[in-house]
Amino acid sequence: MSNDDSIREVARHYDGADEASRLRTGWCPLEQVRTQELILRHMPPAPATSIDAGGGAGVYACWLAARGYQVHLIDLVPKHVEQARAASARQFGHPLASAEVGDARHLPHRDASADAVLLLGPLYHLVEREDRLACLRAAHRVLRPGGLVWGAAISHFASLFDSLSSGFFDDPAFAPILARDLEDGQHRNTTNNPVYFTDAFFHRPGELSRDLLAAGFQVLEVVAIEGPGWLARNFDRLWNDPVQRERLLAAVRKVEREPSVLGASSHIMAIGQK
Ligand SMILES: C[S@@+](CC[C@H](N)C(=O)[O-])C[C@H]1O[C@@H](n2cnc3c(N)ncnc32)[C@H](O)[C@@H]1O
Repeated sequence: MSNDDSIREVARHYDGADEASRLRTGWCPLEQVRTQELILRHMPPAPATSIDAGGGAGVYACWLAARGYQVHLIDLVPKHVEQARAASARQFGHPLASAEVGDARHLPHRDASADAVLLLGPLYHLVEREDRLACLRAAHRVLRPGGLVWGAAISHFASLFDSLSSGFFDDPAFAPILARDLEDGQHRNTTNNPVYFTDAFFHRPGELSRDLLAAGFQVLEVVAIEGPGWLARNFDRLWNDPVQRERLLAAVRKVEREPSVLGASSHIMAIGQK
């Protein structure tokens, strides 16, 4: 399947999925809190100009806008852009600067016009390396010198851990999906079960930093987003107890750069500088 076929498949998947509420389910609040922490760790002060490419329903874009940033969102999926506009309209006094349908490989923004670019989606949905590099080069083009990119990837090993912990490792329909993921990182859902996600490329940590370097970025850090925290049994019990939540976050931070643990994180974040 060519990359354009994959892009249509990704758009079809999200048309039927509820991306707007995903971060409130299961262990995803850990993903959200850690992603926010990793963004703020490097973000220049507001009102820096940020582009959230693949911004989905606008969770991070609206959060940054509420903190005083000038945020432009683009996403492939019209439904997500509508949801982002609606969320923006609810943030009285802190709207998004813009929200448009678009492709992260072809950012419509001017050269050297942004301080920050978030790529929290496109790098795992673009299945061909040339397209991931086109996306990163587009981010490089629109950034001012010194500007920053945040690139999120899904771990090469995510399907193995997820299928074992969620209990579908022995689904005969999932076995060939997992085998291919572990072989070459190319994830294709050959079933009609949306739980098995959609077309994606699952990175090894080293592959993510190589992509950033190839697009001209200096790599500031490559870190685990959830680390092993997503494996917690009774995640909700830990997360809803403020003391245990802080312990969990502290443990994840402690191992966030540990090379032997990086691949066990469901998501990995690379932060690069132009
Ligand atoms: C799992 S969602 C993540 C949304 C949000 N960034 C977050 O981290 O919660 C992935 C998003 O990336 C978008 N996406 C994937 N490839 C894209 C591309 N080439 N250009 C723009 N958006 C893309 C999808 O439409 C989807 O909204």
